[in-house]
Amino acid sequence: MSSTSESNTAPRYLVTSALPYANGPIHFGHIAGAYLPADIFVRFLRLKKANVIYICGTDEYGAAITLNARKEGISPKELTDKYHRVIVGLFEKMQVEFDNFSRTTWPRHIENTQRIFLDLLKNGYVLEKTSQQQFCTHCNMFLPDRYIVGTCYNCGHEQARGDECPACGTWIDPLKLINPSCKMCGRAGLEVRETRHWYLDLPKLSPKLKEWLGEKTWWKKNVLNFIQNMIDQGLDARPITRDLDWGVPVPLEGAEGKVLYVWFDAPIGYLSSTMEWSEKRGEPNLWQDYWYNSECRMVHFIGKDNIPFHTIVWPGVLMGQDQPLILPYDVPANEFYNLEGAKFNTSTGWYIDVEDFFSKYQSDSIRYCIARNAPENSDSEFAWRDFQAKHNGELADIYGNLAARTFKFIHRYFDGRIPAAAEPTALDRETLAKMAEFPERVGHLLLDYRVREAAQEFMNLARLGNRYIDSSEPWKTRKTDPEQCGSSLRIACRLLAELAVLSYPFIPQSGTALWRQLRLDGTPQNQSWDDAAEIELPQDHPIGEAEIMFNKLTDEQIEAEIEALKARSAAQTGASTESHDAKSIEIPPIKATITYDEFAKLDMRVGEILAGENVPKSNKLLRLEIDLGCEKRQILAGIAQFYTPDQLVGRKVIVLANLAPRKLMGMESQGMLLAASLDSDLAALTIDNDRWATLPNGSPVS
Ligand code: MF3
Ligand code: ZN
Repeated sequence: MSSTSESNTAPRYLVTSALPYANGPIHFGHIAGAYLPADIFVRFLRLKKANVIYICGTDEYGAAITLNARKEGISPKELTDKYHRVIVGLFEKMQVEFDNFSRTTWPRHIENTQRIFLDLLKNGYVLEKTSQQQFCTHCNMFLPDRYIVGTCYNCGHEQARGDECPACGTWIDPLKLINPSCKMCGRAGLEVRETRHWYLDLPKLSPKLKEWLGEKTWWKKNVLNFIQNMIDQGLDARPITRDLDWGVPVPLEGAEGKVLYVWFDAPIGYLSSTMEWSEKRGEPNLWQDYWYNSECRMVHFIGKDNIPFHTIVWPGVLMGQDQPLILPYDVPANEFYNLEGAKFNTSTGWYIDVEDFFSKYQSDSIRYCIARNAPENSDSEFAWRDFQAKHNGELADIYGNLAARTFKFIHRYFDGRIPAAAEPTALDRETLAKMAEFPERVGHLLLDYRVREAAQEFMNLARLGNRYIDSSEPWKTRKTDPEQCGSSLRIACRLLAELAVLSYPFIPQSGTALWRQLRLDGTPQNQSWDDAAEIELPQDHPIGEAEIMFNKLTDEQIEAEIEALKARSAAQTGASTESHDAKSIEIPPIKATITYDEFAKLDMRVGEILAGENVPKSNKLLRLEIDLGCEKRQILAGIAQFYTPDQLVGRKVIVLANLAPRKLMGMESQGMLLAASLDSDLAALTIDNDRWATLPNGSPVS
């Protein structure tokens, strides 16, 4: 093994994030699942002085890439070149920093993949079989299941896909679809042809896998349960080759036109990317210090849809090949991260344009917002108002405020120099003792992949700082006991230094900015996590200018973002009929439980629509006059695409009557009309049928 300078007491880590497909831009949903939690983990491990490398790259093969390239009228190579660049750009903006970010089209990756395939074949873990598949004579290719459409043999739905029927959910056998046609060229008359493929013999690997998984007591329960179930139900051999011309060629004679399945080669990309990293560092065997080192912990950060591939197929492949490569140490899989109640979806316009986003907002704001709400144990979502709340209410009001009040005070009354320590008061001692607990507490959560709580905890350190200043009242002691006043500010600065280090993994720019304002040497990154509470500040140490770290986000700005998102989505879903068949409707998950008292705060009433008109220059808003019995209200409702004013006048609807009024298009909306909506369809809640028609306006709803 080659030598490295790092200490050898701390464990060694090889951390990876799922290789993103170079098939389109990635979005905050991906970031929340596989990248930000890993980047935080890695930054933290470095502060813990562990030897860690963080490895990733783009996943560049597969049928989906050839098809997208076809759609864009370019070659797969051009497509992946383009998106590789786009994805690298986004990671830079998000400050997700890899030690190496490779591509699966890198020539040595192809060699690695072929060698591993041949090992598996030689060792009897790969079987050869012939099977029948649909072939499109026009496109001149065997069709991947998802690209065959036809009538479902179970329910008669005409738009069933070769893998599943969206109407009845049946798992489709593509050979049995009625009237199958090719989704790419739209032609019917597919031919069933015989083809030969290689299968990974999972039944044979299954006992080994089961034993190995049995030892993984520290894995997340949801991951373990999921795969143990899969294994118990019995694994089938899985084809690991495809009839395609884009991919790693099957290295066998007579296998022309066949490539290895993208999910076979992609995880091998972790190995290849580590090799590329060693090559770039001029130590071509350095990768072996990780991959051939049974003490090295390989941790794969992924989204939950990737669990079977990382916990069954990939370890199986590693077990069946000949090199002494390590197996995954842990696979912290995250749930999904949505956008304002629905899945991120580029084709329906339901996404955030990252270029635009980063022209207005700081990466630390989005990193913090995602971390605080990370989809660890259940799905979660990005919501603009939550983003505003986290940025204004926590980053600006707690974190930024602590720095600003401390530094300004020192500049104003202590000539910009950190004052001397005095005999500590009881409050000082208590605060220092609490400060000393944070590295351990936040660190423990991070090692457990509990990023949400960890983010909350480092913010609690800033809260502690604010409370300390409030209670020690330096603005009073300045006159009564200047020495004590100086000492309090010194403690506040020590807390800020600690905060710079502990917050650095989450919000690296802000941690660095704190460090810079304290004019300390180096950066937070080369500090020691464990000693963060004991950073000594030289006496009379001059600090830098107080910087404004977070400007508040206004309500108007946030409203405008929400409106823009909805408008784009309405425009794109209205305009493209094509996206509808591809899209399956997502039922949003149930929100967090509330108490009855919280529910009882909503004052909902029966209201009668007296008049209505379209709002000029808006294709979405109707202005409605509604009688609530006790008073009349003007409500602006975003329902113009679903109702004309005529259809509404005289109807009895349900109104949320105690919602704070807000301005839309320069007019005040005094309440909210309740409606059911999903996936660009909407129906107002009404009670205007015979049975209830006698309920007077203003009747409460509960
Ligand atoms: N490209 C896959 C996806 O985005 C992930 C591949 S992860 C790796 O779902 F294991 F293959 F690297
Ligand atoms: Zn075709």
